[in-house]
Amino acid sequence: MTPTDRYAVFGHPIHHSQSPRIHTLFAEQTGATLTYTAEDVTPERFEVAVRDFFGSGGRGLNCTVPLKELAFRLADTLSERARRAGAVNTLAPQPDGGILGENTDGIGLVRDLTHNLGIDLTGKTLLILGAGGATRGILEPLLRLQPTRIVIANRTAEKARQLAAEWGDLGPVTGCGLDELGGMPCDILLNATAASLSGDLPPLPDGILTEAGCCYDLAYGKEPTPFVRWGQAAGARLSVDGIGMLVEQAAEAFRLWRGIRPDTAPVIARLEADRRGSSSRQTQD
Ligand code: ATR
Repeated sequence: MTPTDRYAVFGHPIHHSQSPRIHTLFAEQTGATLTYTAEDVTPERFEVAVRDFFGSGGRGLNCTVPLKELAFRLADTLSERARRAGAVNTLAPQPDGGILGENTDGIGLVRDLTHNLGIDLTGKTLLILGAGGATRGILEPLLRLQPTRIVIANRTAEKARQLAAEWGDLGPVTGCGLDELGGMPCDILLNATAASLSGDLPPLPDGILTEAGCCYDLAYGKEPTPFVRWGQAAGARLSVDGIGMLVEQAAEAFRLWRGIRPDTAPVIARLEADRRGSSSRQTQD
C-alpha cells in the first residue's frame, strides 16, 4: 500500500487556520491521497518539529505567524523572493536531503488581484499600508508587474523608508508615514497592517483613492474587515479581503510540492459559501 503523503501547517496560535480545509479541497479536486493537519508549534519548538516532520517522511510544510522568519533561517536553500522577503511560508524537502524555503504570499496576492479580480497593475499607482512582514512578502511580485509607483505608508515612517530603500532596485518605490498621506490619490490601496486583526483601521485621509480605485485587505475574516468597509464607504470600485490570496498562496505551495496547480476558483467559492453570504468580495457596482 502506498503511504499517504503528509503535509501540515505550523503556527502559534493555529486553531483558526483555513489551510487544512483548502488543501483537502485541492486533494479532492486533483485526486490526491494526502493528509494536511494544523499543528500548534511554538517558536521554541519550531526547529525540532520541522526536523521531526521531514525526518519522518513529511512532504511539505506551511509556516504562519509567528514562524515565518524562523522558517527563513532554517531553510537550506531559498528562492529569490523568499530571500528578499526575509520570510518563508512554504518548506519543501529536496532530493539532497536539504529543505527549500519559498514565500508564496506575494505571488498569491498578485494572482488574486490580476487573475481573479481582473485588476491590471501595470501603469497603476499602488499604496501599501504597513511595513511589516506582510509587506515584505508582497513587494517583489508587485514591483515585477511594473506599476507606475508604489508608496509604502506606515505608522512608523522610518520602517517604510527602510523597505523602500531595500526594494528600490526593482522599481519606483518610496516610503512615508501614514500622517504624510494627504493629496496622493492611488489606484490600488492595499492594507498590509495588522490593524484588521484587532478590528482597527489605519487612519486614512479623504481623497486617497482615484475614482476607479480598488481596496484590498490582506487580512480576512468572517465579516468584512473595517478596511473593506472603509473602502466600500469611500466609493471604491472594488473593496475585498484576502480570502482569495489565502487560497492562491496555498495553490502555489501545492504546486511546489506536487507539481500540479489546483483550480482555485471553486475553492474560493466554497470558502465564500462557508462564510454564509458575506458580501465582502462583491463589487460596489
Ligand atoms: P505582519 O507580519 O503581519 O506584517 P508585523 O511585522 O508586526 O506583522 O507588522 C505589523 C504592521 O502593521 C506594522 O507596519 C505596524 O506598524 P508599525 O510598524 O508602526 O508598528 C502596522 N500596524 C499594526 N497595528 C496598526 C494600527 N492599529 N494602525 C496602523 N498600523 C498598524
